[in-house]
Amino acid sequence: MKLIVTPDTLQATATAAAIIAETLRAEPASVLGLATGRTMEGVYGHLVRAVQSRETSFSEMTSFNLDEYVGLSASDPHSYRHYMQEHLFDHVSPDPARVHVPCGAAADLDAECAAYEKAIADAGGIALQLLGIGNTGHIGFNEPPSLFDTRTRVVELDDETREQNASMFGGDADAVPSRAITMGVGTILDAGRLLLLATGRVKARIIADALEGPVSPQVSASAIRLHHDVTVILDEDAASNLSPETRARAVIG
Ligand code: GLP
Repeated sequence: MKLIVTPDTLQATATAAAIIAETLRAEPASVLGLATGRTMEGVYGHLVRAVQSRETSFSEMTSFNLDEYVGLSASDPHSYRHYMQEHLFDHVSPDPARVHVPCGAAADLDAECAAYEKAIADAGGIALQLLGIGNTGHIGFNEPPSLFDTRTRVVELDDETREQNASMFGGDADAVPSRAITMGVGTILDAGRLLLLATGRVKARIIADALEGPVSPQVSASAIRLHHDVTVILDEDAASNLSPETRARAVIG
């Protein structure tokens, strides 16, 4: 695992964006796994500017998002599809046929999950998977306990997660859907490379659990330590609970 600690949030998001931009420069038809959440807004801002200044292009890439709330249609302003359009896709001209977000409004959710897995396989698998982390230790929406061989499926969201994401629903945790479709931990571990980004002191405790605690389905982010090609990018605040030994291994970004 490569650990990069940056002095501030701006540099953390810029570092993650630079890795994605470089992946697309090296292979414009890359298959990317994309993530949502407040942390990623900065990453996508950097990427939009990189496309505008012609440093990279999304025109040939294929993407698969990690997750979507059950019951929200693509046009719902709270859906992750809407988030992706607003923060990235509307500004970087991807081929709409190659952009994938699970459909939370599908009539047959199990069929939607199976079709999502097949679409990832048909695309040749995900080369680079971007990940955030939730307070419960989730990657995607893999709430504890999530076994490490899980695939795309419907999950119940923890109350803590609904509280964490309430600010995107007018501050009302009850307005946050109780279920979501998420890639499984196994789906995520199949990606060629993982890039986990966390910023802010609010993530310090769970980052220490994920990187230094037991590798366990109780903290699904701990599964990334089983992967052969992982980069973790943290700002100083998110790294602030790590042990001196872990910090000593970090590259200063
Ligand atoms: C949601 C997403 C996760 C993301 C998490 C972190 O729960 N499903 O994939 O990692 O948010 O969100 P934030 O960046 O807003 O802290």
